Amino acid sequence: MILTLFCGLAPTFALQGVCHGKVHRGPRGESPAPHARNHTHDVADQPDIEIVGEVAEESEIFDNVKRTLPDFVVTALDCPGERPLICDALLREHPEVRVIAVAQADNYVVYYWASLDTAKRTEDLHLPEVLRHFQHNSGQNNVMIGPLRDGLTGVILLNSAKIIRMSVGFFAAVVLFLVTVVSVFERGHLLALAQGQSVDRPWMDKALSPDRRADLVLQELTLDEKISLLHGNGMPGWPREVPGANPYLGNGGAGFVLGVPRLGIPIIQMSDAAYGVRAGAENGRYSTALPSNVASAASWDAQAACAYGGLIGRELRAQGYNMTLGGGVNITREPRNGRTFEYMGEDPILAGTLVGNRIKCEQGQHVIGDIKHYALNDQESGRNEVNAIISKRAMRESDLLAFQIGIEVGDPAAVMCSYNAVNGDYACENKYLLTDVLKKDWNFKGFVVSDWGGTHSTEKASAAGLDNEEPLDDFLGPKLKEAVQAGRVSKAELDDHAHRVLRSEFASGIVDNPVKKSVVDVEGGLEISRHMAEQSVVLLKNEQGILPLDHAKLRSIAVIGPNANTSMISGGGSAQVDPPGRGAPYWKEHVWFPTSPMKAIAAKAPGATVEFDSGSDPASAAALARKSDVAVVFVYQWTSEDFDLPSLSLPDNQDAIIQQVAAANPRTIVVLETGSAVTMPWLNQVSGVLEAWYAGSKGADAVANILFGDVNPSAKLPMTFPRSEADLPHAKLLTPPAGRRTDESKPSFEVHYDEGLKVGYKWYDAENKPVLFPFGYGLSYTTFSYSGLKVTTGSETTVSFTVKNTGNRAGAEIAEVYAALPAGAGEPPKRLVGWDKVHLNSGESKEISVPVKALYLSVYDESSDSWKLAPGSYTFMAGGSSQKLPLVEKVNLK
Ligand code: BGC
Repeated sequence: MILTLFCGLAPTFALQGVCHGKVHRGPRGESPAPHARNHTHDVADQPDIEIVGEVAEESEIFDNVKRTLPDFVVTALDCPGERPLICDALLREHPEVRVIAVAQADNYVVYYWASLDTAKRTEDLHLPEVLRHFQHNSGQNNVMIGPLRDGLTGVILLNSAKIIRMSVGFFAAVVLFLVTVVSVFERGHLLALAQGQSVDRPWMDKALSPDRRADLVLQELTLDEKISLLHGNGMPGWPREVPGANPYLGNGGAGFVLGVPRLGIPIIQMSDAAYGVRAGAENGRYSTALPSNVASAASWDAQAACAYGGLIGRELRAQGYNMTLGGGVNITREPRNGRTFEYMGEDPILAGTLVGNRIKCEQGQHVIGDIKHYALNDQESGRNEVNAIISKRAMRESDLLAFQIGIEVGDPAAVMCSYNAVNGDYACENKYLLTDVLKKDWNFKGFVVSDWGGTHSTEKASAAGLDNEEPLDDFLGPKLKEAVQAGRVSKAELDDHAHRVLRSEFASGIVDNPVKKSVVDVEGGLEISRHMAEQSVVLLKNEQGILPLDHAKLRSIAVIGPNANTSMISGGGSAQVDPPGRGAPYWKEHVWFPTSPMKAIAAKAPGATVEFDSGSDPASAAALARKSDVAVVFVYQWTSEDFDLPSLSLPDNQDAIIQQVAAANPRTIVVLETGSAVTMPWLNQVSGVLEAWYAGSKGADAVANILFGDVNPSAKLPMTFPRSEADLPHAKLLTPPAGRRTDESKPSFEVHYDEGLKVGYKWYDAENKPVLFPFGYGLSYTTFSYSGLKVTTGSETTVSFTVKNTGNRAGAEIAEVYAALPAGAGEPPKRLVGWDKVHLNSGESKEISVPVKALYLSVYDESSDSWKLAPGSYTFMAGGSSQKLPLVEKVNLK
């Protein structure tokens, strides 16, 4: 009777498998009443329950079960084996028989909870041994045996094919459970179960807020469990492993944070994923390489950023990860920074908006999102010992503004603090950055994770707001525990850290949507990567209409440059995506992706002779160019984490290759594969220049599509290309002092960012320095005109104008809006405040409206620690580049 009640009241609960076997569902998913079950039993001779064990049919339990479950077909199966109770042979023959842990119970049939009292009897039945045996023989590692809570023992037994196969002894335990548990359930509990909730795990109720769910878990945690959420457990290749953390629990990524399996809290498996998921090769996995992050910023396209993040999120999960370490947004203060390709350019509003959209869609796939490296990690030279000195106003309006916008748009569950120090304190123990700005001012609810090895203290870091140390436990492991026990770190502070980690797990959906490994959608990924690259390639120069190439008129094409016959370069360091067809690269290896410019070009011009020269001998390359109708020269600049460029010149004598080829044939087009800006001493000699960045898995096809006009380029530079390093705010990049560093607890040298607000184009504007190519610049195969600027003010400012396609092919224009603030505001001449990307057919025009947030027009006031709108006259400008703004209107604000 009790059992019938249980089945009837729990139609959506997993026990329905026991109650109804192969259930025929009603229109709203209700199960039929138990007594109807015999009629729905479509495999007449297939039992619902097999009692497995020697002499099972004669046993008392067999009779008991049949009596207790009259609606079920119960048979006994003699097991050809010896006790103990689970039969090895049977398990081998029936791999569908599984035992899983409570934490992963999405496919269970029987929940087993024994009370303290029953547990004693359970012990008599040797249940733990039975399950251990079962686990061993079935090869299922995810059996959990152990206390769920004090006095409760929990296991789940399931059979996905509906039949419970179990030993006599084990079944006896289940019957005990039914009698014991059902008798203590109250009606309310049963109703909760019927609604799919777990009474004993109220934090699994998706209707509750992530904060509430985190609090409910927190109440259950021991001190050790809390601490275990606050640090990593080692990383392959990292000097040591955390004692007792079981390295096999990792997924081969950058590290992992232990879960709390008894409460259903999963392990956080982290992977780098700047432009694709890292470490494919050593783990035997495949990842799509997207164009580098700075390339994606050249699309100025929030939807494309979303597709970018969505792809990475899917591939992370397919590979068994539930946290990304992508999301780099340090603005390009120093273009020689080796990680410029991992970031989103020099403007905080553009970079923040795009990284935010990327993170939003990455997290939409149920991974913990991350934004990094917070903050002012603007050079790699001495990154662990440099102290960036900068005013509050300058950092709030430049580097920090990119993070602020990224966090507002993308709501990442994690922020990675950086290696460097800012105004004296390391970023990962910097109270101003982590608590005052991030957690208080921006109301960030997620957790702060240190960059790998970027933690320098226990109490200072904890108090400043660091929540999770990676990849080890040097400071937030045993030392933190000791500090809590000694009262030097308060319980409230500890709980806040643990709460933030748990909250992020619920908010990102990794608890409700456990990762299941799957096969990456290779074709789908390549398609996205190619499309993204087509939107990222910037056409910098196109003279005498050399582009697009007309295949009908070309008889011979010279393809010149290192590896231009086989592949294109990619960005290195922890961002590195491993190309298919080879093993794991070593640290800072130059990695070329198998996307062949030569093949892609040949495919576009089947009637032409396409010949290759590597350029290793510029004279030979020039000879090939001389006899060809056109020469396409692919040149590269390799960059990576952990070092900065010595200069912005192309390396390896590549300027000479271009110069000699162009001298032999002025119909020369240069395709740049670079991570940052380059200088171009040959610019006046060549007819065309394309900036292809690190173009990803399908880079060559994207470039060929643009060269031959199948795609009309639309990208615009997200960073200035200066004429020379001498024009940079810091002509010489500072490096750490020579000699061994003796005290790692303090930074060893300072970089003074006294250019302040004048980052990127703001610097060149203010200093009146001419540039090679300005921020926001990029050509199309068509032309656009701008007219009719209107500025409306009110709670939000809106800038409207008309863009017309005045050329003869369809194209997309990124229309940019800048504002010059009132003279007294003390700002650089202008700042980007908005943009729109408009697709227009030949002759078509559209009026577009660009909303401008008050924040984007504001100034950070240090005395009141707040943003202020300076009253006075604002000049709004619109056009196709930061230096081509035909529309101008002045308005007074306030
Ligand atoms: C990098 C991070 C990266 C981490 C884990 C660090 O060296 O600075 O960007 O996420 O390693 O690989």
